[in-house]
Amino acid sequence: MLKLGIIGTNWITQQFVEASEETKSFQLTEVYSRTEGKAKVFADKFQADDVTLTTDLETFFSSEKFSVVYIASPNSLHFSQAKLAIEHGKNVIVEKPSTSNIHEFATLQELAKAKGCFLLEAARHIYEPIFKKIQSYLEENKDQLSGATLSYMKYSSRYDDHLDGKEPNVFTTKFSGGALYDLGVYTIYDAVVLFGIPEKVDYQAEILSSGVDGSGSLTLKYPNFDVNIIVGKTKNSFMPSEIYFGKKTLLLDSGGDINRLSESDEDKHPSEIPTTKSDNPMDSEAIEFARIINENDQDKYAQLSRYARIVNRVLEHARASAGIVFEADKDE
Ligand SMILES: NC(=O)c1ccc[n+]([C@@H]2O[C@H](COP(=O)([O-])OP(=O)(O)OC[C@H]3O[C@@H](n4cnc5c(N)ncnc54)[C@H](OP(=O)(O)O)[C@@H]3O)[C@@H](O)[C@H]2O)c1
Repeated sequence: MLKLGIIGTNWITQQFVEASEETKSFQLTEVYSRTEGKAKVFADKFQADDVTLTTDLETFFSSEKFSVVYIASPNSLHFSQAKLAIEHGKNVIVEKPSTSNIHEFATLQELAKAKGCFLLEAARHIYEPIFKKIQSYLEENKDQLSGATLSYMKYSSRYDDHLDGKEPNVFTTKFSGGALYDLGVYTIYDAVVLFGIPEKVDYQAEILSSGVDGSGSLTLKYPNFDVNIIVGKTKNSFMPSEIYFGKKTLLLDSGGDINRLSESDEDKHPSEIPTTKSDNPMDSEAIEFARIINENDQDKYAQLSRYARIVNRVLEHARASAGIVFEADKDE
């Protein structure tokens, strides 16, 4: 099993380490946290004896005890942490989105190439069997493909803090937050992996007092059809997502956390498409990332790197079209 260090001790890291252990992909050996107490609480959840705790990033990355780091800190910190990791020869799995802007992303990709490290963006849903099912459906029906409407909008518990005048990371420009970068990124992955590079990107956003988007509607223009996307962290949507094939429609229960698929035939009769879903949605990516690193699968890595580059570019274009500026942009 590959040895794993982690940054960020929130629930998502716990979920990734659980997936790693369940699938025997990675073994937790080192925990970085800003505070020793949190590092210990995190490590104790896994009852592993030989886990090293550290509160110093330089010490963390100098450790010989792990070769892969999983980074799940606030978005704007990904760049400096991933850069330091690669400079120390570590392979990096970084939560979506990898960076705040495409300049940062290109810098990381070049550095990873120069150092012979993997840089993998944790867009968990594209690795799941249910997503593969969508890809197969598309392959079989691609001649009729005529657009999509994707939706991923969930009221965030942290929005209450924002309304109370606090500054939760995900609602600030300091940490490259907002609905597009937090949830929209999943739907952009859907579009890029399923349909390719859009010709034009336009994002109409509801901007909060902190300068980030609370919600918005994004249009991706392809040569023969449009993909319309609704994202938000300030309200709940129950709208299904849909991919159109002329008279037929493929229905997804969500654009980002896909649990069910159904098909509406030419007579508009819906029928469920059987699929499988792991209890832990990070299982599939953990297995695939470990396989890519272990087998040094450069072809798959090149494909994933290309997706990540396009997605990060679309994110930045969308953000620019809505006039959203992150603090990280000022460092360029
Ligand atoms: N794939 C998924 O399903 C999924 C789901 C949720 C989130 N995510 C991604 O995971 C990442 C983290 O999201 P999150 O909601 O967990 O973020 P968060 O709660 O704001 O922060 C995550 C961790 O980063 C550290 N941190 C927090 N504030 C910091 C600061 N000001 N300076 C330095 N470190 C800080 C904390 O760890 P310590 O206190 O231990 O240092 C914290 O546990 C984001 O990129 C997000 O997009 C992915």
